[in-house]
Amino acid sequence: MDFIKDGVVNHLQWNGDSLRFLDQTLLPGKEEFVETSDYKVVCDAIRRLAIRGAPAIGVAGGYAICLGSRKIKTEDIELFSDELVKISEKIASVRPTAVNLSWALDRIIKSVHEMNSVVDVKDKIISEAEAIHREDIEMCRSLSFIGKVLLPESGKVMTYCNAGGLATGGYGTALGVIYAAYQGGKKIHVVVNETRPLFQGARLTAWELKKTGIPFILITDNMAAQLFAKGEIKCVVVGADRIALNGDTANKIGTYNLAVLARYHGVPFYVAAPTSTIDSQIRSGEDIPIEERNKSEVTQPFGKSIAPSNIEVMTPAFDVTPSHLISAIITEKGICKAPYQEKFRRII
Ligand code: MRU
Repeated sequence: MDFIKDGVVNHLQWNGDSLRFLDQTLLPGKEEFVETSDYKVVCDAIRRLAIRGAPAIGVAGGYAICLGSRKIKTEDIELFSDELVKISEKIASVRPTAVNLSWALDRIIKSVHEMNSVVDVKDKIISEAEAIHREDIEMCRSLSFIGKVLLPESGKVMTYCNAGGLATGGYGTALGVIYAAYQGGKKIHVVVNETRPLFQGARLTAWELKKTGIPFILITDNMAAQLFAKGEIKCVVVGADRIALNGDTANKIGTYNLAVLARYHGVPFYVAAPTSTIDSQIRSGEDIPIEERNKSEVTQPFGKSIAPSNIEVMTPAFDVTPSHLISAIITEKGICKAPYQEKFRRII
């Protein structure tokens, strides 16, 4: 419990030469930290979702490259740089959809570009990774305080997947907005979708909300439409894994369903994300790479078979919500509304 304070979940702890991280696959049953100085262990943690959520994998990727750089033994700056780029590419390839991972790695590689001492480069990589972590918490806190004005004074607010402190450097995005609104006196009741296939809503968002004392109710994903039909949902707020220049937004598979429901029922649908999630290289959602996960995540949740073996199964981890279904995108630099492209160009 001591690793959660003032809305910050301190689940990624850099100890100078090792990373200590909370294994999110064990939540909510066990709150267990793993400590490692091996970047491959961090890559594996990102792959198996022990560390997950777009900003969080960016922060962890930064620490992974710190650990990887320590293992490069040469003092020759050119050989060192070649090895560093290879390690960075390996880390970036672990999860392709969330842009924050490659964004953080590119930022670190660029920050050491002009340097010519291996010792200085290793130090700089650490200070840059720590800055990314610190800034992520600041960005998410700022966007949360900016976004809270959009939430109703009272009533049910729906969220999806987990966009809380566990999914970031420590302060949530969508859950951050909810937390800031609640702290500011709004009488919000959160509706948490369980989020199949990996239950980030049930396991992680419910865990975070319970810890912070914000009232919530857990539903299965197929209950959402009925709540909209009854007029119970005042707004939806979700996170993002990658936002294209036109505002199309990739987030956990199933997010698009909620955006369609929200539009049909005339309910505002908000995306909350730091500007590190906006991809300046991608014009529309069509170009966002969508990660495919292992089929067993659908057919064998928690190791128990729920479908016959040897069948066809779809496993996209994310979908893309078209920008015309999004009421506003909340960033640390302000609330953006369509058309997005020009505003994004000014703030990223
Ligand atoms: O597969 P996950 O658990 O990493 O997916 C996470 C999400 O889709 C989150 O909503 C997104 O990363 C935003 S987190 C602030």
